[in-house]
Amino acid sequence: MPVTRFNVPEKYRYQNGFGSYHEYVSAHLPLEIKLRQAHGHARSEAIEGALPVGANSPQKAPYGLYIEKLSGTAFTAPRHENQQTWLYRILPAAAHAAFEPRESATYNTNPESKRLHQIPNQLRWDPFDLDESVDWVHSLHLVAGAGDPTMKSGIGIFIFAAGKSMDPHEAFYSADGDFLIVLQHGVLDIQTELGHILVRPNEIAVIPRGIRYRVDLPHGPVRGYILELYQGHFQLPELGPIGSNCLANARDFQAPVAAFDEDTDTTWHVLSKFNGHLFAAKQTHAPFDVVAWHGLYYPYKYDLGRFSTIGSVSFDHPDPSIFTVLTAPSDHPGTAIADFVIFPPRWLVQEDTFRPPWYHRNTMSEFMGLIHGQYDAKTGGGFQPAGASLHNVMSAHGPDSMTFEKASNAELIPMKVGEGSMAFMFESCLMVGVTDWGLKSCQKVQEGYNAESWEGLKVHFMRPERGGRRRQHLVSDGDGNGTDGRPDLGSWVGES
Ligand code: FE2
Repeated sequence: MPVTRFNVPEKYRYQNGFGSYHEYVSAHLPLEIKLRQAHGHARSEAIEGALPVGANSPQKAPYGLYIEKLSGTAFTAPRHENQQTWLYRILPAAAHAAFEPRESATYNTNPESKRLHQIPNQLRWDPFDLDESVDWVHSLHLVAGAGDPTMKSGIGIFIFAAGKSMDPHEAFYSADGDFLIVLQHGVLDIQTELGHILVRPNEIAVIPRGIRYRVDLPHGPVRGYILELYQGHFQLPELGPIGSNCLANARDFQAPVAAFDEDTDTTWHVLSKFNGHLFAAKQTHAPFDVVAWHGLYYPYKYDLGRFSTIGSVSFDHPDPSIFTVLTAPSDHPGTAIADFVIFPPRWLVQEDTFRPPWYHRNTMSEFMGLIHGQYDAKTGGGFQPAGASLHNVMSAHGPDSMTFEKASNAELIPMKVGEGSMAFMFESCLMVGVTDWGLKSCQKVQEGYNAESWEGLKVHFMRPERGGRRRQHLVSDGDGNGTDGRPDLGSWVGES
């Protein structure tokens, strides 16, 4: 099914494409939203003519707008990485009073290293609770992370659960990194400076660092997961021999079209998450006043149902990298600071193959969550929607004993797995530490995870009845024979 059947219909227009790729879209709306492709950039106007032609920064912008540049990379970043957006707005973002600390005694999403517990245990969490008492800004619980936003290195992994829309006159931004939002429950109606995005379960959204937005909850409580990327930005993975299509296709990413509020006499508060701490600044105009914009730095969303999954059609189990939706590369080619990987419904047809994921120890850390359904590698029941698991650097994991027994004896007919399910993984080359909240305060850690999953694995090893002579690892015990008293064969018999 190439598109998710959402319970909540779409209400906004978008422009399609990822990065420098955009489709031409024409729209006919009361304000004549007009979208064009220009120089490979997204280009969006809420009033025709609001974008200056040719020049980015003429002496006077059309209609008396202010011009503001939003830099998502250094000016001098290589062209293929460079992300800048020009905004044409009623008042510039700088028009506000000083930022003041807010809730400084209680609000802190900062992953200070001494508060992160680096432990080798496999961890699994029961579903995280909904919380109807807080809004988006106060819904963020850091469960695990690595690195430091002040050094623009590392990641933060959050669980969010909110039940209230943000104050109608508040906007929020994170200076710490890009938010990759994986919604598990509810609907997010997000108004950003660059336009509106509606996010429903099975959709993800990315809101880059610094972009101001507010979140309404039109269908009640919401819950989900966030990967905050302190360094770089997400990109589509290379496809190598796969070719030029499949996995997440560029055309299926949706960026907002410009939409603005004309409000210059109301008190607003802009909230900033800055190194994990909350600050607020007052201003007397709406921050959502961008009449037109063009560039490469913008929020977007993606329907996971559009992911074109590939897999083996002969034998063996490919690496889960074939399920990568987005990646944030490190400086080392092929090694990601963070990969966002999904396990969608798919057919398994491999012959003579143990079809679930193999047992595994990984130099990368693996944080998993479940949006809905049942993950095919964990049928024992402990991995639930809105729950999570963490298999840290070199922490052993794999199918639970029930899954192993089933898969080892299953008739290998073509079978569909993951129907009605969507599990995902944040995979990182970093050793991920767990917060006090993640280990204790949330009270969701399953103490019996190991025992339930792997301690019950049965021994199936049996020596062959005949011809199973055991080779020795010692060259000789000094009597010319091997340590078992038989003639020493050494290694010349061609052991592999
Ligand atoms: Fe793994």
